[in-house]
Amino acid sequence: MSRISVKGRRVWVTGASTGIGRAVTVELVRRGATVIVSARNEPALTELARECGEDRVIVLSFDVTDRRANQRAADEIHRRLGGLDLTFFNAGICEYVDVRKFDSALFERTMRTNFLSMVYGIEAVLPLLRQSPSPQLVGMSSTVAYGGLPRAEAYGASKAAIKNLFESLHIDLLSDGISVSVVCPGFVRTPLTDRNDFPMPFRIKADEAAKRIVDGIEAKRPEIHFPKRFSLPFKLLTLLPSRWYIGWCAKIVTQP
Ligand SMILES: NC(=O)c1ccc[n+]([C@@H]2O[C@H](COP(=O)([O-])OP(=O)(O)OC[C@H]3O[C@@H](n4cnc5c(N)ncnc54)[C@H](OP(=O)(O)O)[C@@H]3O)[C@@H](O)[C@H]2O)c1
Repeated sequence: MSRISVKGRRVWVTGASTGIGRAVTVELVRRGATVIVSARNEPALTELARECGEDRVIVLSFDVTDRRANQRAADEIHRRLGGLDLTFFNAGICEYVDVRKFDSALFERTMRTNFLSMVYGIEAVLPLLRQSPSPQLVGMSSTVAYGGLPRAEAYGASKAAIKNLFESLHIDLLSDGISVSVVCPGFVRTPLTDRNDFPMPFRIKADEAAKRIVDGIEAKRPEIHFPKRFSLPFKLLTLLPSRWYIGWCAKIVTQP
């Protein structure tokens, strides 16, 4: 499939106030895109727009778990930019499960923020993307989508759901000419992983992750996974018989 530069394209990034979404916005602007940035923290988005240039970054602050707010955001993008070429649905949260205090509310929060928010966003942007000459839809999953990991019952399930959703969309949107990619990073240094209390092998910086994501988007890769020294061995492990894979996970983990 032919490579396409992000230069001159109209891009929407959710979860842009910190971490990977912020770094991806900086990289997109550096490569010549105009970026609409969303998250709840409006002052952080305004600061990002000031840093990147207010003619290149437009702030649209809202809560992605609100279906109508997603629709309003898409309407506003249409009004401000006349359309949209590329969407990176990246907003997400990570909460770990304690099976001794199994709490379904945690699962609801996680699925609503990570998965349902993307469904609302996709519903809102598909009509805009269908009018673009070079439409692309990109969603943030994780390497945890490849196989269950300890304490990741909710987070991992939400990321596996996203990966599956984007693979189906890839097939079903081929006839509309919409290119679809799913992003599966290993560990990236952000406020989300700064809270983790376990070793994070091969954790990379957010600006390095951003370069790999934008490279993958420009190459229209169906699955953008990195760092390969982590994602490839982990993929291989999940191909082992379940008994071996689970045995390996059980060995590296101790429940706190
Ligand atoms: N860091 C990693 O190692 C890693 C690895 C694999 C996948 N990921 C995924 O990458 C994405 C970004 O994570 P990150 O590491 O960059 O974490 P982060 O720094 O905590 O960023 C999360 C972003 O999501 C936004 N967000 C959360 N809930 C929201 C809501 N209800 N409405 C609107 N925005 C919301 C946050 O903004 P506000 O709080 O301002 O709303 C923030 O901008 C997540 O989907 C995460 O699961 C991260």
